[in-house]
Amino acid sequence: MKEKTKISRRQFLKTAGLATGALVVACGGLGAAATISPSVDFVEKHFEGDGKMKKVLVAYSSKAGSTSEVAAAIGEVLSKSGADVTVEQIKNVKDITAFQAVIVGSMVRMGAWVSEAKNFVENNKAALEKVPTAIFTACDTMKEDTEEKRAEVTGYIEPILKIIKPVENGLFAGKMDTSKLSFMDRTIINMMAKGKDPNADYRDWGKINAWAEKLPALML
Ligand SMILES: Cc1cc2nc3c(=O)[nH]c(=O)nc-3n(C[C@H](O)[C@H](O)[C@H](O)COP(=O)(O)O)c2cc1C
Repeated sequence: MKEKTKISRRQFLKTAGLATGALVVACGGLGAAATISPSVDFVEKHFEGDGKMKKVLVAYSSKAGSTSEVAAAIGEVLSKSGADVTVEQIKNVKDITAFQAVIVGSMVRMGAWVSEAKNFVENNKAALEKVPTAIFTACDTMKEDTEEKRAEVTGYIEPILKIIKPVENGLFAGKMDTSKLSFMDRTIINMMAKGKDPNADYRDWGKINAWAEKLPALML
């Protein structure tokens, strides 16, 4: 059986600091290159609605692609109720006011949603307050779905919960795929793993789908 690698927020932050320092010293001007990610296929989809139900946006931030697959699964479940669902990367969202319900999701990096996702919520606060909005988070910590871990992840998303009050807040285990990370992020993760293979897919599709199935009653 594959041995699990435990990674806490504090460890992430400490190792990230060490890795960044090491890279700056070792690479000098090449430091910027270390942050370039390999090309990743992010899932973006449109599910045509029945014309009677709401238009729903599922917008997400993902680094290595796995959160985009979570977003697509949520979108697919919602589409079964007849909603017209658009699943896309946050950076590609043009007009949020075109939607009557919104789901925003992010992977966790260094104990927080990626800044693009937080900025999206901040910049669209007024529009999001006018429609039912749900959020979801995919991260390593949730591979153990305990009260303690849920509290830890709730701490990660506290800044988001201060901006909006979502109708639902999904906390999901994610996936680690170092082949899709920048040199910098791969170095951080490999240092954390201390020689063990950090790659693993902890996503629980049963939990993700069950969460999405609750949404139509709350949002549509
Ligand atoms: C550089 C880096 C830092 C991370 N920091 C955290 C963290 O602080 N806490 C956590 O639970 N997961 C952390 N993770 C795990 C990711 O949130 C998780 O693997 C997620 O599912 C990746 O989603 P993606 O494939 O959409 O990028 C980190 C991953 C990377 C690559």
